[in-house]
Amino acid sequence: MVSRVIPVEPFDLVLFGATGDLAYRKILPGLFHRFQVEQMPADARVIGAARTEMTTEGFRDHVAQAVRDAVGDDTEVLKALPAFLECLDYVPVDAMGDGGWDDLGDKLRDNVVRAFYLSVGPRFFGPIAGALAKRGLATPESRIVVEKPFGHDLASAKALNADLRAAFREDQIYRIDHYLGKETVQNLMALRFANSLWEPLWNSTHIDHVQITVAESLGVEGRGEYYDQSGAMRDMVQNHLMQLLCLTAMEPPSKFAPTAVRDEKVKVIHALEPVPLSDIARGQYRARDGGDSYTDHAGDPRSNTESFIAMKVKVGNWRWAGTPFYLRTGKKLRNRVSEIAIVFRDPPHMIFPKMEHRRGNALVIRLQPDEGITLRTTIKDPGPGGMRLTEVSLDMTFAEALGEEGRAQDAYERLIMDVIRGNQTLFMRGDEVEAAWEWADPIIAEWQKEDARPPSPYDAGGSGPEDSLMLLHRDGRRWREIGG
Ligand code: BG6
Repeated sequence: MVSRVIPVEPFDLVLFGATGDLAYRKILPGLFHRFQVEQMPADARVIGAARTEMTTEGFRDHVAQAVRDAVGDDTEVLKALPAFLECLDYVPVDAMGDGGWDDLGDKLRDNVVRAFYLSVGPRFFGPIAGALAKRGLATPESRIVVEKPFGHDLASAKALNADLRAAFREDQIYRIDHYLGKETVQNLMALRFANSLWEPLWNSTHIDHVQITVAESLGVEGRGEYYDQSGAMRDMVQNHLMQLLCLTAMEPPSKFAPTAVRDEKVKVIHALEPVPLSDIARGQYRARDGGDSYTDHAGDPRSNTESFIAMKVKVGNWRWAGTPFYLRTGKKLRNRVSEIAIVFRDPPHMIFPKMEHRRGNALVIRLQPDEGITLRTTIKDPGPGGMRLTEVSLDMTFAEALGEEGRAQDAYERLIMDVIRGNQTLFMRGDEVEAAWEWADPIIAEWQKEDARPPSPYDAGGSGPEDSLMLLHRDGRRWREIGG
């Protein structure tokens, strides 16, 4: 197979929070992968920066372990590891103080792309961005990358934007939502805008409703303290599900370029109608068969934080009036499955006998597991017995259809390379994040009232609380099975 990987320019990537969990699990193995396929050039450098005192040798050992954990015992792939480790460097830096900044400055080269990746909590964004500017480490061409959570409400997001913009221009700021780096999420755009088949149908005349599901089988183990302050709304809906909604609902951009794409996404968020509490189901998982409950991890046995949300969202514009978007996400559900299901209206007049359990046409874009696209179609039930109908799925699993090349690179791999290439299309713009908080804040405020209804319990390993089923049932619709 001829490699289609195009190498990026040489770069210096400074990774703040280099000894942290995300760096270990995603960022460093992701960089290794890009190195191994020769997209990251051998003269690129990754400079770990964190408070921990550590030598470059120590950091390389740490990264070697991270890579081995991610790659397993694929000896062929691991052949590239020694050369990758050569690209690594480490400097202890005190983000809030003076220590280490001069050493860091000494390591940076001129004439290569310079990127600062802040894999640290949001309270460090402002101080680090400020120090980079004040100490002259940030050049007019450098890029700064920040992770979610980007604030916990509109006011905090505005403050973070102000801090970052005091030191960097908007076109230097890369706000990560790793869902945008997922291969199938980008495929949604290809599907919509590189085919003429769907666009004439992509509106409320033909689409009955849309279901966006991000179901996780894991609970909040080990992250209870963070999660309890956040809940599913802040952790998933305001960002990941919002992005999926935007890409599904947006108007065709005039080009596949940062401003054009992000302008269209922001318009969708501005078009969202306020969601009444009666259109939302909140849940919290409880133990089943001796397992654990949400509250075992929350740090507060009476926590009212939701680990599940289902909601009916209306996009108030011409294209979508009359076609609701149902969003659903939760922890400790039956399966890990993420998908966008476009459910089409029934034919206006049916000439065949009524079909039992008819579900109708649906185009399903599967994000995970086994990424792919399915089209549920009605056909004649084969064989004798008259004109009976049945439903089958035309199924395209990318890994099968595309072979080796169907292997999706991890979202982080793609996004980091986009930072080096200077392409902001798959990153969130400041106004976009603020608009999403502006929509989410009033809902969260309702839940924080004294007399707010607590989340309904649901069984771990199930499909969420009863209220979630009712949300669709009362509209004469039903959820797709989680993983079925
Ligand atoms: C993160 C959330 O942003 O996304 C986690 O903080 C969640 O709670 C994760 O588990 C889901 O990402 P993925 O890629 O595993 O679907």
